[in-house]
Amino acid sequence: METGLGLKTGPSEKSFIDPQTGETLIKKGDIIFPPRKVWMKTFGCQMNYHDTERILFHLKELNFSFTDEKEDADLILFNTCAIRDLSNLKFYSQLGDTKRIKREKKKDVKIGVGGCVAQTEAKELLKKYEQLDFAFGTDVIDCIGDMVYRAYAGEKKFKVTAWDRSEDFSIDTKITHGTPQAFVNIIKGCNKYCSYCIVPYTRGKERSRKCEEVVKDIQNLVKYQGVQEVTLLGQNVNSYGKENGESLAQLLMELEKIEGLELVRYTTSHPYDVSEELIAVHGKAKKLSNHLHLPVQSGSNTVLQRMLREYTVEHFMGLVNKLRAANPNIVLSTDIIVGFPNESQEEYEKTLELLEKVKFDSIFSYAFSARNGTKAAQMEDSLTDDERGRRLRELQQFQLDIQKETRKELLGKTMRVLVDGKSKLKGIIRWKGRTNCNRIVHFDPHDLEKDYLWNWVDLKITNATALSCNGEIVKVHGRNIRN
Ligand code: SAH
Ligand code: SF4
Ligand code: F3S
Repeated sequence: METGLGLKTGPSEKSFIDPQTGETLIKKGDIIFPPRKVWMKTFGCQMNYHDTERILFHLKELNFSFTDEKEDADLILFNTCAIRDLSNLKFYSQLGDTKRIKREKKKDVKIGVGGCVAQTEAKELLKKYEQLDFAFGTDVIDCIGDMVYRAYAGEKKFKVTAWDRSEDFSIDTKITHGTPQAFVNIIKGCNKYCSYCIVPYTRGKERSRKCEEVVKDIQNLVKYQGVQEVTLLGQNVNSYGKENGESLAQLLMELEKIEGLELVRYTTSHPYDVSEELIAVHGKAKKLSNHLHLPVQSGSNTVLQRMLREYTVEHFMGLVNKLRAANPNIVLSTDIIVGFPNESQEEYEKTLELLEKVKFDSIFSYAFSARNGTKAAQMEDSLTDDERGRRLRELQQFQLDIQKETRKELLGKTMRVLVDGKSKLKGIIRWKGRTNCNRIVHFDPHDLEKDYLWNWVDLKITNATALSCNGEIVKVHGRNIRN
């Protein structure tokens, strides 16, 4: 049954204390929700992780708390990714395992699948996997409470994959963890239809939030939730604001004015939509990260044309040069697809040439994976998977050799990180943080007892290899960079 966004009008929640047990109970409609546990597995990009955060926020209102133990859960949810075969495979193997959990558990376990696979294949999933109770798409995240209510009301095998057709894209950011970093969605969907990509089918048409709303949202995160670093999210943030006569460049300049906000990142960009105005902002915005992820996909013009990427290698190189002129400290990373249908050896080598020329700080590289329903999946293709694998391994090694050289430049420099985690290996504690330019640096604590989490720390780089960096503490600023 498809009720779409009519679901938003589902019964509201009321909480009360059970006089016998003292537990908090939540009543929604005629159903009482006792404290329960939800386990959730997320695949894919930051958009999906951000949606998961929203889902967990809404489920808190239905008395669910998060558990890391699948076996303990009352509700099991998957947030899926359809971008390549590999992400699919991991999901299907974990979904398979839930059949056993449902059979062995004495309690009633509910199972739901959301995200990009569910958006296009909800019907097939529900039919094929008997353990599934419901499936939901990418545009109905804020209706999760009503879906869970329907599942507990006994409704079986329903899907909710409607598109939100309201004029404006308007939300406020929900965060459940009290960290100083937050993701803020500014645009949804994608209108680009690159020939290999499934995203326009799983995320729908582009729609931006109004600049004023985003600014207020971030002001509130800074003021009331202690947020200091935001990452603006969208599949193509460079298209932000087009339908409202606004732009990413304009939004970034507005964010400069927010007191207490220290660092702004955005991801991910499409080279076609990088404007002169945006390049200029990279030269003058003080809070904007010195890192830019700018996916190029291929170094061959003929492949870029078949990918429908709408730019040439020359245009891309022009952007790189202008960005580096505007901000000499800018650090660039990219995405590469090798083995696009019928990619010749010569076309592939053009990508190696581009890597050599640009010297990206890091890359994400993938072998082409045919996605049903996309143009590239219909193209004639003489390449074998073995050849794709060979090219991918070779390209990755090629890039590592570049990184080995370029990263030597970091030695001796002092860089500020926001500490976001620690590892313990053979009893030795090491902390790690991310620099403004998105590099991860590990360091040994001066004080073994000190909790460095979410502290700003200046580190002098003592070792830098192609894949990792180590530093020693120069100054600990504490949780507030101004200390
Ligand atoms: N919106 C972003 C990318 C989103 S998907 C952009 O346009 O840059 C992240 C990356 O996955 C893409 O940049 C691309 O490199 C890779 N990708 C997407 N579809 C793919 C496919 N069918 N096969 C292999 N890699 C793919
Ligand atoms: Fe996919 Fe292209 Fe849109 Fe990126 S810009 S999400 S690669 S269609
Ligand atoms: Fe995957 Fe959907 Fe993101 S397909 S990469 S989770 S938009």
